[in-house]
Amino acid sequence: MTDPSRFLAGRRILLGVTGSIAAYKAGEVVRRLREAGAEVRVIMTAGAGEFVRPLTFQALSGHPVHRDLLDEAAEAGMGHIELARWADAILVAPASADFLARLAQGRADDLLAAVCLASAVPLAVAPAMNAKMWASPATADNVRTLGARGVVLLGPDEGPQACGDTGAGRLLAPETLVARFGELFASGLLAGRRLVITAGPTREAIDPVRYLSNRSSGKMGFQLARAAAEAGGQVVLISGPVSLETPPGVERVDVESAQEMYEAVLAALPGTAIFIGAAAVADYRPARPAAAKIKKTAETLTLELERTPDILAEVKARRPDLFCVGFAAETDDLERHARDKLVRKGIDMVAANRVGPAAPEAGGVFGSDDNALHLFWPGGEASLPLASKARLARQLIEHIATRLEAFHAARPEPAKVVPLGGTTTAGMQEVE
Ligand code: C5P
Repeated sequence: MTDPSRFLAGRRILLGVTGSIAAYKAGEVVRRLREAGAEVRVIMTAGAGEFVRPLTFQALSGHPVHRDLLDEAAEAGMGHIELARWADAILVAPASADFLARLAQGRADDLLAAVCLASAVPLAVAPAMNAKMWASPATADNVRTLGARGVVLLGPDEGPQACGDTGAGRLLAPETLVARFGELFASGLLAGRRLVITAGPTREAIDPVRYLSNRSSGKMGFQLARAAAEAGGQVVLISGPVSLETPPGVERVDVESAQEMYEAVLAALPGTAIFIGAAAVADYRPARPAAAKIKKTAETLTLELERTPDILAEVKARRPDLFCVGFAAETDDLERHARDKLVRKGIDMVAANRVGPAAPEAGGVFGSDDNALHLFWPGGEASLPLASKARLARQLIEHIATRLEAFHAARPEPAKVVPLGGTTTAGMQEVE
C-alpha cells in the first residue's frame, strides 16, 4: 500500500459522515487523514448525528463540525459554497444507501448533498450498509449512475455486519480507505515524462552579505512539482531560496542566483519533455558585485544593474522540441501581455494571473495559498478560477498533459525517460 502522506500531505479534505452504524469508524478515518498530513473538515448529516456526537469529530479534526445548510451563522462563516471551494477532494465515509440515492439524484436539501453538488473536485464514497441494501437493484443503479459521473467507489468490504448479517456492505478498514483515497490523486497523465520546473525567487549578490531578491514564496512551483510527480512524471525541481519541503518523489536542486538557476536548468535538460518556469527570476543583477562588504561611508550608493539570462526563452530557443510553460503576473490587460509573452519567448503555454489591486483575492498572490490563473496557448485559452495552489497545480498539469499530445502530434517522437544507465532517445537535441 502506498504511504498516504505522499498524496495527502497538505491537502484539504472534506469528510462527509452519513447515517450508518459505521459512522463511529469515521473518527478513525479523520485521525488517519490527519496523520497523513491532510487538513480535515467534517460535514455530518442529520442521520450521522444519531450515531455519533459532533464533538468527536470536532476534537479529532481540530475544526467545528459543519451540519446545517440553512444556518445563517454558518453561512456567514464557511457556507456550502465556500466549503465546496475550500476542499481539494471530498470523501463520504460512511456513505449510507440513502445518501448514495440522494447524491445520484443531485439533491441539495442538506449541507453535504449541496456541497457535493457545488463542487468539481474528486469525490469518493465509501458505502456502509446492510448487505441486502447494498445488493438491492436500486442501490446498484445509484452506484452505476455515480460511477458514470466519475464518483469513485471505495469498497464496500465483505464480512460480518453489525446487524448480524454477513456479506458485502462493511465500511473498508480506515487504513485501507485512506490509502486508497490518497491514490485518487495519482493520475498517471505524465507517466514516463521528465519535467524540469523552476520555483521560488533568486538572490543577486550586491556584496558578500547583501542581495537583491523578490517576494516569491515558491509555493506554486512546489505544488506543480508535486502534481507532476503524482501524475507519474519524473520531476527535477530547481529552486531558489525558499522554506518549503521537497514534495515526495521529486529531485530538488537548490540554487541562489539567476545564473546558477540557468546553469542548473541546462544541466537537467537532457531527456526532458516539459519545462515549466514558475520561478520569479530576477530580471537584473548588480553588474559588479563587491568582493568585500560595502562600507556605509557615502550618503548615496548607486548600483549598476545588468540583465540576467532569460531562462525560459533560452530553454525554448535551444530545445524547440520541449513543451515550455511560463508564468505571467500582470496588473492589467492580462490577455495581451500573456499572448505577447507566448510569442516573444516562443513558448507553448502561459499561465497568467492578475497581481496588484485588481487581483481576485485580497491578499495578493505572493505567499498566498490561493490563486486564480488564466491559461493561454496558441489558438486557445482556459480559465482556472480561484482555488488552492494545490488544486490549480493539478488542473494546470492536466492542461499541460492535454496540450502536450497536440504538441507532439505535430512533431517528432517526444523525449521519453530512459531508465538509469540507459541512453537517451535517438534524434533528440541535447544541450551540452
Ligand atoms: O519576462 P517575464 O519575467 O515577464 O516572464 C516571466 C516568465 O519567464 C516566468 O515563467 C519566469 O519563470 C520566466 N523567466 C525566466 N528567466 C528570467 C525571467 C523570467 O525564466 N530571467
